[in-house]
Amino acid sequence: MSYNINDQLDYQSSYENSLNNPEEFWHAIANNFWWKKPWEYVLKYSMSEAQFSWFKEGKTNITVNCLDRHLEKKGSKTAFIFEPNDSGQDSEHITYIDLYSRVCKLANVLRKYGIKKGDRVCIYLPMIPELTVSVLACARIGAIHSVVFAGFSSGALASRIDDCSAKLVITSDGAFRGNKLIDLKSIVDESLRSCSSVEKVLVVERTFQNISIVEGRDLLLRRELDLVEENCEPELMDAEDPLFILYTSGSTGKPKGMMHTTGGYMVYVGYTFQNVFQYRENDIYWCTADVGWITGHSYIVYGPLLNGATSVLFEGIPSFPDFGRFWEVIDKHKVTQFYTAPTAIRSLAKESLSWVNKYSLTSLKILGSVGEPINDEAWTWYFENIGKKNCPIVDTWWQTETGGILISPLPGITKLKPTFATLPLPGVQPVLMDENRREVSGNDVSGNLCIKFPWPSIARSIWGDHNRYKETYFTAYPGYYFTGDGAMRDEEGNYRITGRVDDVIIVSGHNLGTAPIEDAINEHPLIAESAVVGFPHDVKGNALYGFVSFKDGVENSDLKTLKNEINQFISGQIGPIAKLDKIQFVSSLPKTRSGKIMRRILRKIAEGDFSNFGDISTLLNPEVVEEIKNNSL
Ligand code: WT7
Repeated sequence: MSYNINDQLDYQSSYENSLNNPEEFWHAIANNFWWKKPWEYVLKYSMSEAQFSWFKEGKTNITVNCLDRHLEKKGSKTAFIFEPNDSGQDSEHITYIDLYSRVCKLANVLRKYGIKKGDRVCIYLPMIPELTVSVLACARIGAIHSVVFAGFSSGALASRIDDCSAKLVITSDGAFRGNKLIDLKSIVDESLRSCSSVEKVLVVERTFQNISIVEGRDLLLRRELDLVEENCEPELMDAEDPLFILYTSGSTGKPKGMMHTTGGYMVYVGYTFQNVFQYRENDIYWCTADVGWITGHSYIVYGPLLNGATSVLFEGIPSFPDFGRFWEVIDKHKVTQFYTAPTAIRSLAKESLSWVNKYSLTSLKILGSVGEPINDEAWTWYFENIGKKNCPIVDTWWQTETGGILISPLPGITKLKPTFATLPLPGVQPVLMDENRREVSGNDVSGNLCIKFPWPSIARSIWGDHNRYKETYFTAYPGYYFTGDGAMRDEEGNYRITGRVDDVIIVSGHNLGTAPIEDAINEHPLIAESAVVGFPHDVKGNALYGFVSFKDGVENSDLKTLKNEINQFISGQIGPIAKLDKIQFVSSLPKTRSGKIMRRILRKIAEGDFSNFGDISTLLNPEVVEEIKNNSL
């Protein structure tokens, strides 16, 4: 069995094989990687206990597979083309040898400051080469990286640092983002006021703006790098040793630190990158995500490097200096595979087509989409105007928890169907469940999407709370992994993901839990309670609608100021991405006798659908529904 899937027969036989003999199947795939010592068994698992162990006792280091292994033949090949925020500045080509030595040096700096296997390192950086170098430097020495997206606020950063007791933070003096200059270092300083675990902060100089340095804690990375050696022995890792933690929103409570381990993640991400993007030796691949999300971890850093690929690493945003930036970069670097999010496609499709038509885009072979369902209009615009009807679109469905892509067409192999993520990749067994928690059989059906059998990159736990992991993903449908998504399956077995069925809302491709947003709103001294729901939005996919009630005796004088303050609270606690588009003040929230907010009513009102609220007989205060409906925005 080969690593590359080349045609439909190959896909079918790989898929069948992976179902009939999963262990043999993954054993053969895993043999494509470097291991210091082979595994003792391929898989042991228990769905009910949420325990998964892949390639146990196999010893490796993922950075050897990403870097060392390529040096002999591909040392001078470009690993990353860094494209800076400012289009007037030169891009930087970083070869595999360059990347290797930068990783080793940073790893040595980490070691020098006492970071060892199993310690947590928080990375809070813009999309600059040091971000990927930091991730790999941690992996080199077995430290567990926890990358926090640099758009998160100090509150969100502090809770993530605290949750995993990170010992060290890597950040920068600032970030360039479009025409803005962001003061990242101050955000870190602010969050560290409440975090006691952090001993050192390494600061990358990017903007060279003035920053304050805390003596004894903060170190300029540039100086530290001059003092260390170029070689760094990789730490030998068991396949099941943790590789990273990445936080994702939950429908309740604090963010969940999804924990991924080394071996299974490596095998799965390497294999799926190769096949979903059909990467060929001279291709130039570009994924526009941020490394702060799972897409960046798996398909900017690890997947491409495991395959010795060349990728573009883009610091900027799609609208700066103008709406042609993506297309300009594609022409400039002759990008062959382009992977982005529906929200970006929709926002660019709104602008004049002349931004696209200024560029040839002839280098493109394959287009990708990820993060939320792609609607028909956006799919067609992407296919016709960017791909010129010549490039298959891979609509890749997956999650932070799944580590890698689970359902996706294989370009040139799978028959495409707009808005459908189509078929499962080898090793993946999706099923749809009905209200009675039974599998829905046959085709042309819908239900809640579960996965029936483990795949190598399934998250192993929630950091510090295995019980929550079990509860969240393995109890609703005993014996299955529950994704939180609804889906349908057409006559030919293709899957279409219809969206979340829980209280997670996907806004511009960002996964937001309603609970933390409500917590932030409720911190406002005048606010009693709030409920946040989603409503459809042209560009963002979904936007947020907040229903908010005052504390007793509050004069609701200046509502406009109050609305701004609420959004400032949210920005401060979570980040600007979680701001509300609409805020409605209500006398109270519709609640059941047991005190639960009846969100489905609020959802309908937010969507402007007043047709049928269903059974509201369990409501304690049914009269409020009329009021909320009449004042809806
Ligand atoms: C949720 C996971 C996967 C990396 C980025 C998001 C939604 C993701 C698709 C798609 C329809 C999609 C799902 C999923 N989603 N990709 N191709 N079609 N929906 O990772 O932040 O963990 O979010 O994103 O609802 O559950 P995430």
